[in-house]
Amino acid sequence: MSMRFAIIGCGVIGVQHAAAIAALPDRATLVLAVDPVVERARALGAEWTTSVEEALARPDIDAVAVCTPSGTHADLAVAALEAGKHVVIEKPLDVNVSAVARVAAAQKRAGRTVTVISQHRFDPSSQAVYRAIQDGRFGRITSGVASVAWWRGQDYYDSGAWRGTWELDGGGALMNQSIHTIDLLVWMLGEPVEVFAWSACLAHTGIEVEDTAVANVRFASGALGVIHGTTAAYPGLSARLQVHGSLGSAVIDNDALTYFGDAEVAGRSSVGAGSDPAALSDVHIEQYRDFLGAVEEGREPLVTVGEGGRTLGVVCAIYESVRSGRPVLL
Ligand SMILES: NC(=O)c1ccc[n+]([C@@H]2O[C@H](COP(=O)([O-])OP(=O)(O)OC[C@H]3O[C@@H](n4cnc5c(N)ncnc54)[C@H](O)[C@@H]3O)[C@@H](O)[C@H]2O)c1
Repeated sequence: MSMRFAIIGCGVIGVQHAAAIAALPDRATLVLAVDPVVERARALGAEWTTSVEEALARPDIDAVAVCTPSGTHADLAVAALEAGKHVVIEKPLDVNVSAVARVAAAQKRAGRTVTVISQHRFDPSSQAVYRAIQDGRFGRITSGVASVAWWRGQDYYDSGAWRGTWELDGGGALMNQSIHTIDLLVWMLGEPVEVFAWSACLAHTGIEVEDTAVANVRFASGALGVIHGTTAAYPGLSARLQVHGSLGSAVIDNDALTYFGDAEVAGRSSVGAGSDPAALSDVHIEQYRDFLGAVEEGREPLVTVGEGGRTLGVVCAIYESVRSGRPVLL
């Protein structure tokens, strides 16, 4: 049976979710679009409403995609779960770690499936490096680097009142932009235990949050990580992940596997899928496939509330370290 979706929040990313659902016509259908801005709700080409309550009360909606400003995610996800819906939550899970337990408890009560979007886990390059680590091909993982050197002009921050606010964006270059690469670092290196960080706002005005941050992370395995995230690197370079181990290393640059070397493969450079920005929705499609499969098969999706919550926890701990000037234990 096709899963019937409502999308809540029909802005930039809501449109991508509609495209992902449309790409899976045998398995998913967009029934309803919800946005207080009528033209945005209408633009998705389904039935539309401005009322979340009305959407959640409809028995012909099986699942809800939460695509609203970040600080509203947990409340909407909990309301959807209480209405008996399965839920796809855009990243980040929310902007405070307290949201993680709230969503997890609502999920447990409802017995429904929840995934947090982290579409780059589905890039072929990410999958290949993750598998290599799991298979022990890189030996003991010693370190990782997540670096997002992007540019966002002032017009970007001015394009929505919620952008660049603590309440609704939850942070800046780290919470909004770099969280994808941080999630990959944490997924690959495992349980993070301690962070120490600095941040600054250096090239934008009128925002409350950082446009540049650096952090060190210590992992339970002993591995060490570096996080660098900025929206102040004109004209905007790449999002890059490096993973290094005692027997091998890999580099993913703008979603492409640009270096892979271990005992079997000596330093081969290759270009994987995903280097085209238009491929964005393709990996959203893969995450929808995983979510639909999880519901159908009664298994966990790849990115659970716990997984999304762990990455959110790293970003929140980084902000706490910046505020306190001290290392923070997770
Ligand atoms: N996975 C990704 O690559 C990716 C990319 C962009 C954005 N995002 C995430 O998606 C979320 C939205 O970002 P965006 O760029 O689409 O923002 P946006 O401002 O373009 O769209 C947000 C939409 O939500 C609507 N909205 C606000 N409150 C609402 C409510 N209570 N009920 C229904 N609709 C409501 C707004 O009217 C707006 O149309 C953010 O959390 C962001 O971090 C993820």
